[in-house]
Amino acid sequence: MTASKKRILFVCLGNICRSPAAEGIMRAIAGETLVIDSAGTGRYHIGQLPDNRMRIHARRRGIELTHRCRQVTADDFDNFDLVIGMDASNIANLRRIAPSPEAEEKIHAMAEYFNPSTPWDHVPDPYYEGSEGFELVLDLLSEGCHNLYNQIRKS
Ligand code: 4NP
Repeated sequence: MTASKKRILFVCLGNICRSPAAEGIMRAIAGETLVIDSAGTGRYHIGQLPDNRMRIHARRRGIELTHRCRQVTADDFDNFDLVIGMDASNIANLRRIAPSPEAEEKIHAMAEYFNPSTPWDHVPDPYYEGSEGFELVLDLLSEGCHNLYNQIRKS
């Protein structure tokens, strides 16, 4: 079982808002059935806990975010099966870091897993937004993570 666990890395810019929230949500859904981590393309917040606002909003949904910020590396493409970016800028950055064409094929957008009716094509950066921005991110990530988990279970 452990040998065949799918390994998923969620990636955003800062690794303090969107991707650690995706990691926490997916862990709540999948438990130990998947290997889950998150990282950022930037290096501004390395070692820090997620943004307090995101921690508070996630906690209201029963999810504790305890990830410590780290930067994504080329080795991550060996260590994970799926590398999921939150927006087009994250994806462009990941393409630059990917060490091979095979590695690039592991890159996906979180929006690929949204419901078809959802009027968003990315997970918007909430850093300069108010509470609604954080709630929107958590709604989009919950939807995307549930759909991704169901897709993995069927495969
Ligand atoms: P995240 O949000 O990419 O969802 O973690 C951000 C966090 C910090 C910054 C930008 C986006 N920043 O510029 O410090």
